Order: sequence, then structure tokens, then C-alpha cells
Amino acid sequence: MTKVLVATEKPFAKAAVDGIREIVEKAGFELALLEKYTDVNDLYKAVEDVDALIVRSDKVTKEVIDHAKNLKIVVRAGAGFDNLDLEACTARKIVAMNTPGQNSNAVAELAIGFMVFMARTNFTPVAGTELKGKRIGIHAYGNVGRLVGEKAKAMGMEVMALDPFIPAEKIEADGVKVAKDVNDLYSSCDYVSLHVPATEQTKNSINYELLSKMPKGACLVNTARKEVINEADMAKLLAEREDFKYITDIAATNDEELKKFAPRYFSTPKKMGAQTKEANLNAGLAAARQIVDFIKNGVTKFQVNR
Ligand code: 3PG
Repeated sequence: MTKVLVATEKPFAKAAVDGIREIVEKAGFELALLEKYTDVNDLYKAVEDVDALIVRSDKVTKEVIDHAKNLKIVVRAGAGFDNLDLEACTARKIVAMNTPGQNSNAVAELAIGFMVFMARTNFTPVAGTELKGKRIGIHAYGNVGRLVGEKAKAMGMEVMALDPFIPAEKIEADGVKVAKDVNDLYSSCDYVSLHVPATEQTKNSINYELLSKMPKGACLVNTARKEVINEADMAKLLAEREDFKYITDIAATNDEELKKFAPRYFSTPKKMGAQTKEANLNAGLAAARQIVDFIKNGVTKFQVNR
């Protein structure tokens, strides 16, 4: 019998697990669950006899693949797939997929919440500022970025975006100004909301030179990946500029060092952008359906490796 494993160090909401089970069992497959594991050996053991794997930010390394002798498909229930070793998957002819767009609204809502939190000085009684009339720069205008722009407009913000992979006309059609380049984006905006994936090109790219272009009182909002930030540069800038703020959903590697800049630095204890019941249901159920479609009908839509 085809066996599907859901391996989530940060578990889905129960409703999502129930929904995944229903889809998997209706297809005549078996569901196994490994939640809140702290030892990678538990993951190695759990994947030994599975045909399909659903994960979140869980790292699917070459070692995991090596232990998964029957694995045919791995689906990252979410957008970013930097946690999957695609080379190792391809070498074993394992199909790797993501579920783009399924958790975007949750992440976009958090980005807006982050801005309000920083504008209101971490919800303390100190007089803060309003978002209305401020300019936000959306760095990468994909599923999440577009939703952040839409919600920011509703807050009365002026929206600017930069995305070399999306035609300018498409961005402008949303009533969003297109930045000339990355310097234009960062120097023009009071808030920059990051939505770039972590790739070899983007890692460490948000550096001192770029961030120091942001205007007085500016705030960087990160619901993307910590790897895109040059963390030493961030520490330098926060130390030099008493007006600069950084809020992140992915605690920096030097989190303890940066915490001394609170309330201008804030990190959530665990990445929570996609952690809503709705996002869990959307992404989890999509992952289960994609697995059934692949195993039964060979459908490879959303495959991210070749
Ligand atoms: C994503 O890439 O979809 C988000 O970062 C969500 O990650 P999570 O599933 O680990 O919360």
C-alpha cells in the first residue's frame, strides 16, 4: 500500500491533519505522522518505508533522501523550497513540489501586523506613528508581495514594488509604482517588506549599503528568509542608526546580539507567518491532493526540480 508521511517539526492545525488523512485514505493510501520531532534520526527512521512525504520547513537533506528508499515524491506544503535538496531528489528521480499561493494570505496579514506593531512601538503606550500616508516597498511581487500591497493600500499606504521576473505593466495594473531598481526601492520607502526567496543570488544581499539608503525612521519587515539578510551589516546599522527598525519572523542567527536593540529589533520565537488554521488547511490539503494526483495520474504540476 502507498504510504504517505507527514513530517512536521512545527505541526499543522488538527483540522489540516484530519483533512490530509481523509484525502490520503480516500485514495486508498496509508497516512503516517511524525510531529514535533527534535531528533533527525526520528525523521530518518520514519521515511524508511514511505512513498510520499509532506513537509513544511523541515529539511529534506541528502541524508533524509538516502534513508527514504521508496520515496517517489516530496511536497513542501508552502512556497519556499530552499529546505529541499533538489539535486538529491533529482538524482533519485524523486519529484519535488511546493504548493504556491496556498499560505500567502497568512504571511501577508502578518507582514501588515508587523508594521502596525513597529509603528506602535511594540504595543507600548509611547506615542507611535500611523501607516497611513507612508510608503511601502514590496521587494519581490509574488503571491505574498501582491497581497501585502493590496492590504497596505487599504491602510492608506502608497505602494511601490520591485520584481525583475514580473512585467512592469502587470504591477502597475494593481495601482503599484514600479521601482527603477533596488536602490530606488530602498531609498524611497519608509517600510520595505521582503518577499525574496533564499537563493545563491539573494543570500546576504540585503546589506549595509542597501539598508543605509532607507530614509529616517525606516523599518525593514522580513517574513521571507533570514539568509537574505547580511546579519553583521544589520547589527552595524542598528548600532549606528537609532531611528532604524527591523522586525523579522525568522530570528536572526545573531538574535541575542540584535535583541539589545529592542524595541527597534523584534523577532518571533518561531516562524509563524504561515501558522494559521486556514493556511495549514490550504497548503496541507493541496499537498495531499498533489500527491494523490501524481501517484494515480502522473500529474507533475508544481514540480520544482527537473
Ligand atoms: C513558506 O515558504 O511557505 C513559508 O515560509 C512557511 O513556512 P512554514 O510552513 O514552515 O511555516
